[in-house]
Amino acid sequence: MAMSDVPGLVLETLKSAEARGFKLSCEEMVGRLLAALASAVPPGGRVLELGTGAGVGAAWLVSGLEHRSDVTVLTLERDPELAAAAREFAWPEWVEVRVADVEKELPELGRFDLIFADAEGGKWSGLDLTVSALQPSGVLVVDDMDLSRYPSIKHRESVTRVRDTILSDPRLVAVDLPVSSGIMVAAKRRD
Ligand SMILES: C[S@@+](CC[C@H](N)C(=O)[O-])C[C@H]1O[C@@H](n2cnc3c(N)ncnc32)[C@H](O)[C@@H]1O
Repeated sequence: MAMSDVPGLVLETLKSAEARGFKLSCEEMVGRLLAALASAVPPGGRVLELGTGAGVGAAWLVSGLEHRSDVTVLTLERDPELAAAAREFAWPEWVEVRVADVEKELPELGRFDLIFADAEGGKWSGLDLTVSALQPSGVLVVDDMDLSRYPSIKHRESVTRVRDTILSDPRLVAVDLPVSSGIMVAAKRRD
């Protein structure tokens, strides 16, 4: 895919990530999936990202929401320096970068139409909080599920546990996509 069609805000966040040596940003295919799913959130939709990092995932989400002003995007980051740097980008006014620990904050946030679970909290631990925060018909995206990228047995066990939990959760209809960094997409059944 040509860099020329990467949205400007994404390019800015990528540049900033590189400048600060932040290597955990989502890969391009994950970003494009986020943009596509964000574009489909219903009117008044709420989008949540767990783990802002350098802002790359949030920029992809926003790119899919171009021309919408009826939505909100909330992205949580526990590292105050990363959050402060991410706030510097030219986000639309409906984007909020919040310093917070996912597992403490999630129970208070209500429900979301799209959640990108990309932090330790709410994914490797506290996954149930994330699933509970999904609106019926809401969609969950979980990144970094490619087992072959984890040299440590302990990490591979965590990935396997999270995958099995998502695939067997009766509230979800899930698919495991062996592309890019390894992506799981799960939709929450209607109540
Ligand atoms: C994989 S990076 C996020 C990348 C970003 N989502 C993107 O797509 O570019 C994970 C981030 O989650 C943050 N994080 C880890 N555990 C967290 C927690 N419990 N609460 C909030 N942020 C957390 C880390 O500081 C790190 O910046």
